[in-house]
Amino acid sequence: MHDKATTDTAALRILEVSASGRQHGSTSRTLTGELITALESARGSVQVRRRDLADGVPFVDDAWIAANFTADEDRNSAQREALAYSDQLVSELQEADVIVLGAPIYNFSIPAALKAWIDMIARARLTFRYTENGPEGLLKNKKAYIVISSGGVAVGSDYDFASPYLRHALAFVGITDIEFIAAEQLNSKSDESIDAARVRIAELVYTSPSLDDRAA
Ligand SMILES: Cc1cc2nc3c(=O)[nH]c(=O)nc-3n(C[C@H](O)[C@H](O)[C@H](O)COP(=O)(O)O)c2cc1C
Repeated sequence: MHDKATTDTAALRILEVSASGRQHGSTSRTLTGELITALESARGSVQVRRRDLADGVPFVDDAWIAANFTADEDRNSAQREALAYSDQLVSELQEADVIVLGAPIYNFSIPAALKAWIDMIARARLTFRYTENGPEGLLKNKKAYIVISSGGVAVGSDYDFASPYLRHALAFVGITDIEFIAAEQLNSKSDESIDAARVRIAELVYTSPSLDDRAA
């Protein structure tokens, strides 16, 4: 992970999460980069933290589950260690005002690394809790931009199981202000789709009323 920090306390804190397995020629990575550049130009000052899921994300396992279901004050050092990576991913989210997620469609849904990341950040008592009125997300007052890329599937179609799932999973942890930027059906209309995504980025970034209120 690389931090590009500024000392400006009013800087918009951006967490870029990249889920493409491609390090070269990735449309979602290109567009999340352009989105962050646009946010920087619109906002003046940003602080960017990057989490590249292609570096690997551990799966939930026996030790993790047991530790997670143990109350924080009762966890032993091995249990704290089992949750350390997950804690780190959660704190990256907690410290961000804006999440910029690059998410390709893989096999009609999200890449496995992104599902592993969601499993790591969905933490009872940390990112959600159950109340008398049902679940409550605890990651409040954040905005997410999701660049979703696909080869053949039209985003929002019956075969897109990625975007509804991402909307639901992020809302579950409290991130309800979500904008999708589709770079879709790249196999058949690459230039057209990427142009449309760039237009949408410009519209979102330069006409967003809410971003100025964040990190102010
Ligand atoms: C393993 C794998 C599975 C894919 N499955 C689908 C799919 O089910 N539907 C689809 O429309 N595109 C699919 N694609 C195409 C990608 O969504 C497309 O290449 C997209 O541009 C990937 O994002 P990236 O350029 O940021 O890597 C798949 C690509 C890969 C590598």
